Amino acid sequence: MTTLELELAVKCLKDAIDNENDDDMTNAVGNFSSALAHFAIFAVNNETMVPQLKEEIQFHIKYCQNHLEKINLTQKGKKKPPDLCGMETVKADLTHALITPIKRPKVFSRGINPYKGFLLYGPPGTAKSLIAQAAAEEAGGLNFFFVSAGDILSKYIGESEKRLRDIFEMARSKKPSIIFIDEIDAVASKRTELDNSRGTKTELFLLMDAVLGITDGVFFMASTNCPQHLDSALIRRFDKLIYVPLPEEGARMETFKKKLSDIKSDELSDDKLKSLAAKTAGFSPCDIEKICTNAKNLALTRLLQKNPIEKCGNDSKGEDCKCCTPILLYDDVLEAVRDANPTVDPKEVAELEKFAEEKGHGKVHFYRDLPKPRTFVGTIVDFFAEFFA
Ligand SMILES: Nc1ncnc2c1ncn2[C@@H]1O[C@H](COP(=O)(O)OP(=O)(O)OP(=O)(O)O)[C@@H](O)[C@H]1O
Ligand SMILES: [Mg+2]
Repeated sequence: MTTLELELAVKCLKDAIDNENDDDMTNAVGNFSSALAHFAIFAVNNETMVPQLKEEIQFHIKYCQNHLEKINLTQKGKKKPPDLCGMETVKADLTHALITPIKRPKVFSRGINPYKGFLLYGPPGTAKSLIAQAAAEEAGGLNFFFVSAGDILSKYIGESEKRLRDIFEMARSKKPSIIFIDEIDAVASKRTELDNSRGTKTELFLLMDAVLGITDGVFFMASTNCPQHLDSALIRRFDKLIYVPLPEEGARMETFKKKLSDIKSDELSDDKLKSLAAKTAGFSPCDIEKICTNAKNLALTRLLQKNPIEKCGNDSKGEDCKCCTPILLYDDVLEAVRDANPTVDPKEVAELEKFAEEKGHGKVHFYRDLPKPRTFVGTIVDFFAEFFA
């Protein structure tokens, strides 16, 4: 029975490696997990096995775990992000910064280095993580490695550094790619006397220097909502510090419109949406998303009160079934707005704005802000305008 276990483990492992080579990650995850389980059962049932075999089994278990972790990382970045509301300028500028070095590598051969390191900072819930992913997609499907601090940090000595090296190595092998570290402050905040994460930070800086210093297709992005606590050695490594602020009224209106577009309603005219946006100054897009969810639930509650579940006799799954279609009223959204509080503290916003003013790179200027090339006709017109002035 136990030999069978080992045979199954080896078979699953071989299949998983084949799946991985064929880019079939769904089956690869299944087979690596099965291999892991079979190896573990074999190890438990054969505690007295010879040391060489024990070592081999342990090696395979570690191998499966490492590959599952890696696949998890690569797949996270492949999840389709929700549609972004607002943030058009930041997204367009970022997209441009990503596309240019890939499409026009030659223009960077004369002492001009492309922007490759970007720090997105701003209050929580403003889609910092989403913007990076949306820009990567728009730039033509760059491989996006979404890493949260939890994926890196480990209590075992040297393990965090190894994970970082693996991530950078993976991104380099899948160029063009972007490494995105979410909540980077957990990995590289200011050094303190009792700093036990120094090794991880140093490794991160070395790896960043390696990818940012050369003109190959690996970009590095990170996000934080407390840039003022970041190690200055990290900050200086970024080419662009990009402030992602709370949304303006127009962006809030668009967020309400998009987040409420999937429920039936006859009452959400532009004027009403505008008035909702006016009532939600200081709210993040994430707060607005929650308001919309609560408003939809109010509509659902009203529907269920009127038509209890057992009362619907309509088996058809069509949309016409009136007793199963909640209808949203403007008052539902108003009530949800009244019940909500903004999650972002104005003091936090003030601190971020201070950072933007003192340390931020100001307005985000990318290559597309270069003056437009003058046409021949334009030049002639300008010449005569100057001549007769
Ligand atoms: N501009 C936006 N358009 C659409 N949805 C948004 C937008 N901003 C935030 N959201 C919603 O809010 C959720 C949280 O956003 P996200 O996690 O990207 O924010 P964040 O800025 O990274 O926050 P944190 O600093 O807390 O990590 C998203 O998953 C999305 O559903
Ligand atoms: Mg985030």
